[in-house]
Amino acid sequence: MNLWQQAMRAAGAILALYTLLCCVALAVADPSGEAKMEQFFDQDDHTNNWAVLVCTSRFWFNYRHISNTLSMYRTVKRMGIPDSHIILMLADDVACNPRNSYPAAVYDHPRKATDLYGDNVEVDYRGYEVTVENFIRLLTGRVSVDTPRSKRLLTDDKSNVFIYMTGHGGEDFLKFQDSEEINSYDIADAFQQMWEKKRYKEILFVIDTCQANTMFSKFYSPNILSIGSSRKGENSYSYFHDYDLGVSVIDRFTYYNLEFFESVDMSSKRTMADLVGAYNTTLIYSHPGVRTDLYSRKLNETYLTDFFGAVQNIELTTEAFPIGQPESP
Ligand SMILES: *[C@@H]1O[C@H](CO)[C@@H](O)[C@H](O)[C@H]1NC(C)=O
Ligand SMILES: *[C@@H]1O[C@H](CO)[C@@H](O)[C@H](O)[C@H]1NC(C)=O
Repeated sequence: MNLWQQAMRAAGAILALYTLLCCVALAVADPSGEAKMEQFFDQDDHTNNWAVLVCTSRFWFNYRHISNTLSMYRTVKRMGIPDSHIILMLADDVACNPRNSYPAAVYDHPRKATDLYGDNVEVDYRGYEVTVENFIRLLTGRVSVDTPRSKRLLTDDKSNVFIYMTGHGGEDFLKFQDSEEINSYDIADAFQQMWEKKRYKEILFVIDTCQANTMFSKFYSPNILSIGSSRKGENSYSYFHDYDLGVSVIDRFTYYNLEFFESVDMSSKRTMADLVGAYNTTLIYSHPGVRTDLYSRKLNETYLTDFFGAVQNIELTTEAFPIGQPESP
């Protein structure tokens, strides 16, 4: 950690303390809690939804991490986010792996009803492009001038951003391709940069890995709702084992999220509280965690479509997303 980061972190801590003091002051001045009502979600300020879906694992035996991500991709598209607003990062391509007895197909269920790779999968970062550096650059917008539009997160302060990550992890880290790791401070600092650069309105961060809840423990920026699959010291568990393929085809936490989403469409009024309330540790095997202290809305007043729906009220034009202002690394 260099001096600048230390300084930024200290500044963050002071800001957090200040915010806390303000809240206490507000609570004292207004015991009815009415002041909080002013933070109501302003739909006029919310014009677009984006998704960043990241599978950090390579190798055939990590098949389930790829199918986790492709299943999430399918769901997000079905709920209304267009491909142009989805960044899909896949560190490996099991579809074309010689060990795949169903070439070019990926399944998340032994029934093999739905080929996840079948229809229109647009992978934006693949193979060795899936690195910690590229992920951080994507989030913070520090990409080189010649980066194509499909590899840019063209969000602004009216964007709700869903970030999903899966792979092998541990306390405060997630492995990228077995060769490097991202840690919880890296992501926390990237989110803070995004906040300062007005690159989001709200973030929904969801992670499926071992000890997943440690990965959002260091976040300190506003308007972030975080959900993880397992506590510190706890593994996350795979679900169906497929005997044809010889591997597990999906993870439990992701599976049960997707199952819930099956009941949700673009006009749904189901909320984040409904989603979180449906988690069953007997089925998931681990204890999902939900961090709400950075989030200003109530979960029972946050519709899933606030993140996953196609926002209807505004016609997006290219002018709304100027590609300019590239930054040097
Ligand atoms: C969780 O799942 C188990 C096993 O199916 C079931 O017996 C239990 O009732 C469920 N718990 C809740 C709260 O739904
Ligand atoms: C959400 O829950 C709070 C209590 O935590 C309650 O006061 C509020 O009325 C609920 N909102 C809705 C829309 O049910």
